[in-house]
Amino acid sequence: MRIGIPRESRPGETLVAATAKTASQLAALGYDVVVEAGAGAAADQPDTSYADAGVAIGTSADVWSSDVLVKVNAPTADEIARLRSGATVIALMAPARSPELVEQLAAAGVTGLAMDAVPRISRAQSMDVLSSMANVAGYRAVIEAAHEFGRLFTGQVTAAGKVPPARVFVVGAGVAGLAAIGAAGSLGAIVRAFDVRPEVAEQVESMGAQFVTVDMEQEVSTDGYAKEMTAEQEVATAAMYDEEARAADIVITTALIPGRPAPQLITAETVAAMAPGTVVVDMAAANGGNVAATVKDEKVVTANGVTVLGYTDLAGRLAAQTSQLYGTNIVNLLKLLTPEKDGRLTLDMDDVIQRGIAVTRDGQTMWPPPPVQVSAAPAQATAVLPVEKAPPKEVDPRRRTYAVGLAAVVFLALATLAPASFLPSLTVFVLAVVIGYYVIGNVHHALHTPLMSVTNAISGIIVVGAVLQAPVDNLAVQIIAGVAILLASINVFGGFLVTRRMLNMFQKG
Ligand SMILES: NC(=O)c1ccc[n+]([C@@H]2O[C@H](COP(=O)([O-])OP(=O)(O)OC[C@H]3O[C@@H](n4cnc5c(N)ncnc54)[C@H](O)[C@@H]3O)[C@@H](O)[C@H]2O)c1
Repeated sequence: MRIGIPRESRPGETLVAATAKTASQLAALGYDVVVEAGAGAAADQPDTSYADAGVAIGTSADVWSSDVLVKVNAPTADEIARLRSGATVIALMAPARSPELVEQLAAAGVTGLAMDAVPRISRAQSMDVLSSMANVAGYRAVIEAAHEFGRLFTGQVTAAGKVPPARVFVVGAGVAGLAAIGAAGSLGAIVRAFDVRPEVAEQVESMGAQFVTVDMEQEVSTDGYAKEMTAEQEVATAAMYDEEARAADIVITTALIPGRPAPQLITAETVAAMAPGTVVVDMAAANGGNVAATVKDEKVVTANGVTVLGYTDLAGRLAAQTSQLYGTNIVNLLKLLTPEKDGRLTLDMDDVIQRGIAVTRDGQTMWPPPPVQVSAAPAQATAVLPVEKAPPKEVDPRRRTYAVGLAAVVFLALATLAPASFLPSLTVFVLAVVIGYYVIGNVHHALHTPLMSVTNAISGIIVVGAVLQAPVDNLAVQIIAGVAILLASINVFGGFLVTRRMLNMFQKG
């Protein structure tokens, strides 16, 4: 079978459905691949790079007469008319919002597979173009915001004065939101984020951002998607959105429930009360926007100097990488559809992924597919998030003083009673305990695993030292050596067990 990769017809489109690398991967599945001349030009994929990868360059007619058409955007009516009956077209189709497209595909007798309908289940992750694109777009949203903001993200103390860090508020912590949190945090901003799904709080915090909590009932989702807010939830969150947005320098909104218009969360009053210079990136602009002032695909500067970006081509602004990711998602789908690697596309309607993306099949309408039960989080009872977190436990300073005093008395007693030759070793031991306490106590959590290897090495040294001391003809030394071997061995073997457990967590199946 021949796969055709056309030049995208949508004005301003930068993406291409296959890069030189992914086109050659498609060829390795047994297909003849032909790419329309100039198709990858805007994604840093000149015709020469396809030719160098052994992929044929052809005319528009060559491509559109192929058995399988792989595109980024949904085919237009004119393009559908160019498909031959029985052909297969794979593209982003938004079938839930495009009934006329479904009808046209069916009428043309073609098979339509919607890449944006890949169910969000673990097995389909490698084909999930929406996640690939939202990930890039979330990053790019921060870059666009930084460009408009025109100030540093990171806080600095310089000889010329202090620069406060930028405050970024992210609404919706799905794929795009988490990518935006990561990008803004790595630029040095203070990031706060909110999502109606309470289970994402941990992910937000693991990325160094603060999860904003609201005193209301929030349900842990069973399928990874949010439910529409109740009237009470809307009232409870409205004040929070207003307060957070006013305090932020940059607001990035990504809130969406699939198949619904985007909820409007930042009102015109809030935008009007925001400080001049504040930047809002409304990533949900394509679905109506989360912000009152958003105009799709436009940059709007309000009367009070707030810049609102409603760009819907954020992923396309990093065209080379997005095309590579999209192309890889396509390759993974075609691997599924070509089980024999013989260049023959077969569809198995019993497979939940293939059924999920099938919009039409040989002219028969297949949309909508039966619902897929995805389980992103275990079903749980309604969770109520606390308004304020319990403050971290502080050690009572008086207890610390007593402990230090007691240690000093023990040290002095030992120094007085012990033989003079023992004093240097004792001093080194006490200093090691004090320095170790402060150094290890201040190691960031993320570095605890490498730290564990170091402590294992130290434990190994202790075991060797204790084994050397054990034969000494002194009961006290033998007892201390025995205890040292026991404790150090617990650390060494415990370390191995923990490492084994962690490795198991990364192993498939
Ligand atoms: N502008 C662009 O170029 C571009 C590119 C890719 C994706 N997007 C858009 O970005 C948005 C997010 O995409 P995604 O893949 O991250 O989706 P996602 O489903 O992974 O994330 C959406 C998040 O919004 C949350 N949410 C829903 N309603 C909410 C509410 N009322 N308040 C707070 N949070 C709420 C959901 O719980 C979810 O975590 C979508 O609108 C998508 O179309 C835009």
